[in-house]
Amino acid sequence: MRIVIPGGSGQLGQVMVRGLTERGHDVAVIGRHTDDPALRWDGHSDGPWFAAIDGADAVVNLAGRSVSCRYHWRNLNEMMQSRIDSATAVGRAIAAARTPPPVWLQASTASIYAHTHGPAHDEQHGILGGTEPDVPAYWGYSVSIARAWEMCLHQADTPQTRKVAMRLGFTMSPDPGGVFDWLMWMVRRGLGGPFYGGDQFVSWLHGDDLVRAVLFLLETPEIEGPVNLTAPTPLANRDFMQTLRKHAGAPLGLPVLPGMAEIGAWLIDTDVELLRKSRRVVPGRLTTAGFQFSHPTWGSAARDLVRSWATFPV
Ligand SMILES: NC(=O)c1ccc[n+]([C@@H]2O[C@H](COP(=O)([O-])OP(=O)(O)OC[C@H]3O[C@@H](n4cnc5c(N)ncnc54)[C@H](OP(=O)(O)O)[C@@H]3O)[C@@H](O)[C@H]2O)c1
Repeated sequence: MRIVIPGGSGQLGQVMVRGLTERGHDVAVIGRHTDDPALRWDGHSDGPWFAAIDGADAVVNLAGRSVSCRYHWRNLNEMMQSRIDSATAVGRAIAAARTPPPVWLQASTASIYAHTHGPAHDEQHGILGGTEPDVPAYWGYSVSIARAWEMCLHQADTPQTRKVAMRLGFTMSPDPGGVFDWLMWMVRRGLGGPFYGGDQFVSWLHGDDLVRAVLFLLETPEIEGPVNLTAPTPLANRDFMQTLRKHAGAPLGLPVLPGMAEIGAWLIDTDVELLRKSRRVVPGRLTTAGFQFSHPTWGSAARDLVRSWATFPV
């Protein structure tokens, strides 16, 4: 397949380009800094990049300002606007194509669901967030971003193209600079204990399963609309970190307590919401459609990731 990936230079893009290319697919990455003028865009304007979409077998849009930043007004606004602008531009490119791609997978996030310690959210019964009484009010902004992002996909006038919103959990791969690399940095410095009490659920996905799930979605024409891309076994942060420490050979891990967490997040230019929010999300639609995860449990995924992280070529 010829698969076009706007925003494919980032963490998920690297995992996908590698995984899809290894499986023999022809992948083109659209980005703001590429040397190839035929694949360069600014994230919002029409341009020669439209031609790359015309006749492609699939578009997987991952573009958007990184969410790993301090959540002040300017960054939140950039997170929102870059997602609306890029998704809208992709919709216009598909609408303008003489041969529109039959399928468009659009990144979204498992953060769209409410913070919960109760039943897991699937696509059918899950409760969207934004109105939880027991969380900081600014957390609602991430939910608004995700809703606006999915609305752009929904409203795009692309009748010949099937549209899927990928509600992604934290995707774990050995690549430098990714979430897993950052967790290993913490664990190896003795900081791999529970974060902020450790009761909050972590919804995660192994990078190999991301690639496999993307291909499954591309090849399953019955699936349209929102799809949770998370492993079927979200677990409490305390257990998540303990399992990672076990496989990383670091039995002891200092807990990161409230107060420390805010200072640490400020120092590394990010926001505690990313790790404090309890995301208990399960892949209802993928499971019902028969998708088999290669790493359904965090124990299996962590063992594999620690091994591949240690030998990852840098
Ligand atoms: N990583 C995860 O575990 C995870 C979990 C849930 C949801 N997601 C979502 O999935 C998408 C991909 O995740 P990722 O981790 O690969 O993100 P990432 O590493 O931040 O990469 C996103 C890409 O978007 C492009 N970009 C950045 N700012 C932009 C802007 N203002 N306008 C247009 N493009 C811009 C960049 O490509 P160029 O610089 O080449 O243009 C960048 O490489 C993101 O939207 C993210 O929110 C990711």
